Amino acid sequence: GVVRHYDWTISRKTLAPDGVERPMIVVNGAFPGPTIEANWGDWIEVTVTNGLEDEGTSLHWHGLLQTETPWFDGVPGVQQCPIAPGSTFTYRFRADLYGTSWWHSHYSAQYSSGVLGPMIIHGPNHLKETEDYDIDLGPVLLTDWYHRAYFDIVEDVMGTDINSIIAAGSSENNLINGKMNFNCSNTNLPCTEGAGISKFEFTTGKKHRLRLINAGSEGQQKFSIDEHSLTVIARDFVPVEPYTLNMVSLGIGQRLDVIVEATGSSGSSYFMRSTIETNCTRSSQPYALAAVYYPDANQTALPNSTPQPDTRPDCTKPDYPLESTVPIYKITPAETPDLTYEIELSLAQNSSGNWVWFMSGSSFRVNFNEPVLILANKGNTSFPSNWNVYNSGNATNVRVILKNLFTVGHPMHFHGHNMFELASGTGTWDGTITNPENPPRRDTHMIPGSGYYVFQYVADNPGVWPFHCHIAWHVSGGLYVNLMEHPDKIAQNMKIPQIMHQTCRDWAAFSNTT
Ligand code: C2O
Repeated sequence: GVVRHYDWTISRKTLAPDGVERPMIVVNGAFPGPTIEANWGDWIEVTVTNGLEDEGTSLHWHGLLQTETPWFDGVPGVQQCPIAPGSTFTYRFRADLYGTSWWHSHYSAQYSSGVLGPMIIHGPNHLKETEDYDIDLGPVLLTDWYHRAYFDIVEDVMGTDINSIIAAGSSENNLINGKMNFNCSNTNLPCTEGAGISKFEFTTGKKHRLRLINAGSEGQQKFSIDEHSLTVIARDFVPVEPYTLNMVSLGIGQRLDVIVEATGSSGSSYFMRSTIETNCTRSSQPYALAAVYYPDANQTALPNSTPQPDTRPDCTKPDYPLESTVPIYKITPAETPDLTYEIELSLAQNSSGNWVWFMSGSSFRVNFNEPVLILANKGNTSFPSNWNVYNSGNATNVRVILKNLFTVGHPMHFHGHNMFELASGTGTWDGTITNPENPPRRDTHMIPGSGYYVFQYVADNPGVWPFHCHIAWHVSGGLYVNLMEHPDKIAQNMKIPQIMHQTCRDWAAFSNTT
């Protein structure tokens, strides 16, 4: 097949996306990073040079299955060692699903400093029937925005005082495609007023496809376009029967492909807006705005339009009520799983008084030097308990019942699979399964606060797959397990390329000198 090749260098740079200068870590000098674009079935090859002097890096291709190349999923300590400063590493993987997604650093919360960008994979043409649109306007990347480097925030959110933890985790701004204004009187940092907002052009009477991506660090986004409605045609990499809403919610890591019918007249303009919401309440964190202009509109003036009313059916279920979500391609999960994990998610203080996240009593800690997949390839099947490895052996249908003992929801992301979303809600699961013949599926699901999320997957992808909260501060805080499937096949059949071992040697050499 076709190979799409990219050459990237990761480096530090001071940038000011919203007018406020801050230290960033970026790919090829820009934020947002480059867009990956491919057709379904193509190979994508990304050569990454780590131009940071003092820290590792590693890139993850969010939502792809990596069935042919489970070692290129990009999670340090799980599938690979970090790419050491000065080293170069080439990822090579198949565009094995299609739709809208993003790529990002999976090294600590490094992506929050800017190492992220969109990924668009075009599907087969016969989808034209369900993807009914005229113009593809491309990615609409939503990122809550911080004026500090990620490392300082990670330290603060794992502190001992709960109020400073909450303050440290809250964003200063919210960007659409890397742009937004900021009121300079609210910062002591070097700041220029009027950085500007992103602009989109609509053509009257046409249907526009927008690819919404929540690539932020903490906030759940509520997105709308004034005086326009949004018809959802895909959630993550899964096409669904279209449904229309005034506004949509996206947890971090989630994507929605929406069609917007351009009902405005020429000369008119409207705001696109995204706000941060927790448990149905708008947070005090800022709005993101962008402008939509029709032909002949004055693009130097800001729109003067009316926000959409919030008529979402049930905001306590941040993912659209599952009962109404029907994947176009029907897959019926096994009625009885071979194996069920019950996992409890909680926040508590560790022995040194720091607040960290626990999954069934164990807060995940990473060991960069010995990736689980490489150890499993050498035949190891037992690991330190705080690596949170769940070995499902040769089970085929695995169910996870996740209970959220915390009051706020979490965007739970699973690598290497789409999850059958069997049930989700507040309180305790009553055993009912949503649309058992064809349940909704996606790779990131918002578990409600004080609630449950039940999912099932087909363990057909030998490898070690993280299942974690996608809030950057929670990933680093241990809200993370690794689901290992078919260890026999990993040990006996998997041919891990030499580059994976070389990368670990380079990393060991770097860590020994620091
Ligand atoms: Cu978007 Cu574990 O990743």
